Amino acid sequence: VDSETKALRDLYAEATRLYHHLLVNTDSGEQALAYLTARGLDESTIDAFMLGYAPEGNILYEYFQTQKIDYQLLRKSELFVEWSDGSLHDRFTERVLFTIRDSSGHPIAFSGRKLTSDDDVPKYVNSPESPLFNKSSELFNLDLAKDTIKKQKTVILFEGFMDVIAAFQSGIANGVASMGTSLTIEQVQQLSRLADKISITYDSDMAGQKATKRALDLIAQHSRLSAQVIHIPDNQDPDEYLRSNDADAFKQVLTHNIEDPVTFNLRYLQIDRNLNNQTEFFTYISDALAVIATVEEPVIRERFLRQVANEFDLSYEALQDQIRPLLLQRQ
Ligand code: GTP
Ligand code: MN
Ligand code: MN
Ligand code: MN
Ligand code: MN
Repeated sequence: VDSETKALRDLYAEATRLYHHLLVNTDSGEQALAYLTARGLDESTIDAFMLGYAPEGNILYEYFQTQKIDYQLLRKSELFVEWSDGSLHDRFTERVLFTIRDSSGHPIAFSGRKLTSDDDVPKYVNSPESPLFNKSSELFNLDLAKDTIKKQKTVILFEGFMDVIAAFQSGIANGVASMGTSLTIEQVQQLSRLADKISITYDSDMAGQKATKRALDLIAQHSRLSAQVIHIPDNQDPDEYLRSNDADAFKQVLTHNIEDPVTFNLRYLQIDRNLNNQTEFFTYISDALAVIATVEEPVIRERFLRQVANEFDLSYEALQDQIRPLLLQRQ
């Protein structure tokens, strides 16, 4: 690697070490440590994920000043915000820090979570892109998860950092998350080099369902990964579920609460639709048939057609007639 990359990596390694130290060894980190402990994280997890705390003030900047680090390098690191007079100030203050590592384990960015429940403050603040950090190609925890993903040929895709960490602590080591944004083609392609199967395990709220839909379409278009959707019960996210249930219950969910993409899509098409309204019902049926028409295997297609026929008391033959032109179009 070039010398700038190396210098920036060193800065991030130092910053990670300092923030971790402040979290676990100092009074300033006490409240943040209590917060993480209250969220169920134990010491070894806090260490493994290099979690940190950024206190108020300008601690990181002052620390690098004592080491006479070059101003331009500090600027490029994006660890600081630059004021209009050119002065640099710690980007992260009064936040718990999740360290983002690249696929070789080098810290390259942070995501800072607020400790307050103040709605006026954004919950997370993320590092912007930098020479080290290309948001759309990184996956949180890929470095630690890689070997397990390869061994099990399966990757679990979560929505948030805390979901990945909570799963890891319960012994589920093949979890990753996209970087606080929607899944990208690059991320899908990376995962398809390691795994055969991807389990989308997003939050069960509406935002999570929408993101699941988007991810399924992206995966189908850009990879040969087989996809499945895990449904977390009780409108919780995986981390919340793990806080109120044990690891075994979560493993049960991962192995039993599975939907195949077609079943997910058929259910998703019903959300916010009034199927008692005739027009909406007809639209639903034609959308549902378009989903079923994407299935290659005739036997599986027939099974879904029969399912829709039964669900709405329609004749199988009528559905067959209606899907035929879609199947011809496909070829
Ligand atoms: P916790 O409340 O800490 O458990 O977070 P969460 O992971 O459950 O958050 P949520 O389900 O609301 O959002 C999922 C992911 O979206 C988070 O892990 C973040 O990466 C991202 N995210 C959530 N809120 C914000 C925000 O205010 N700003 C930014 N930039 N990203 C956010
Ligand atoms: Mn430690
Ligand atoms: Mn969410
Ligand atoms: Mn969540
Ligand atoms: Mn959460």
